[in-house]
Amino acid sequence: MIDQPNGRGGALRRGRFITLEGGEGAGKSTQVRLLVTRLEERGIEVVATREPGGSAKAEALRQVLLSGAATRFGPRGEAILFSAARIDHVDNTIEPALARGAWVVSDRFADSTRAYQGALGKLDSRLILELERIAIGNARPDLTIFLDIPPEAGLLRVSKRRNGKAADRFEAEGLAFHTDLRKAFREIAKTEPKRCVIVNALAPENDVAAAIWRAVETRLLQTTAKRPRRARRKEAAEERA
Ligand SMILES: Nc1ncnc2c1ncn2[C@@H]1O[C@H](COP(=O)(O)OP(=O)(O)OP(=O)(O)O)[C@@H](O)[C@H]1O
Ligand SMILES: [Mg+2]
Repeated sequence: MIDQPNGRGGALRRGRFITLEGGEGAGKSTQVRLLVTRLEERGIEVVATREPGGSAKAEALRQVLLSGAATRFGPRGEAILFSAARIDHVDNTIEPALARGAWVVSDRFADSTRAYQGALGKLDSRLILELERIAIGNARPDLTIFLDIPPEAGLLRVSKRRNGKAADRFEAEGLAFHTDLRKAFREIAKTEPKRCVIVNALAPENDVAAAIWRAVETRLLQTTAKRPRRARRKEAAEERA
């Protein structure tokens, strides 16, 4: 049985939350679009969103964060500003969608703060995790796809796409920073294997999309069918209560 969030006798099941992470030019935005289309073809309501941003007040902060204007607050201040944007995003976009049974697919989320602010500011990881706890509450991703690419290749894609326009605050960092970033993302995936999947983002677009879809199918769409019938009945009863 396919797990249809709104299709079970009117009982509303909380939606699923998927995040795509990875360095510059890994193909996150491309793959969010492809994944959303594929989920919608299954009849699932999907909200596509992104960070920094994803809600009105957070999008206003996006300009500040990506222009580099926030750097003058220092690494801690910058991490807190990212968290402020995330609070608005979670409260106004992600939580309401999940609560009504829609799925949410986000182009970057909290792992980007762990990796970027961790790699960049050498911030205490306890501070980063505490900010994350405060900002996201229950909105923990069910599945995170890390699009893994050598930074040289990702940056080359981005510079081609930019076509002469200035690099943003993070694109402008040196290669060593982007190499640290890749290492940080891989480290997160290794420590949370239940939530995370690493996908080779150097592969052609369609192959990347197929690998992501396999992860979504096995980890999210088939889980209801695989659970013992007793557990499913209990869950349905809870949903009715
Ligand atoms: N698998 C792929 N192979 C080759 N080129 C790709 C692939 N996926 C995306 N691209 C191209 O690489 C560029 C960057 O892709 P995209 O914007 O999706 O990456 P991103 O991870 O969202 O980047 P950013 O970090 O800048 O937001 C785009 O021009 C896109 O068309
Ligand atoms: Mg993008």
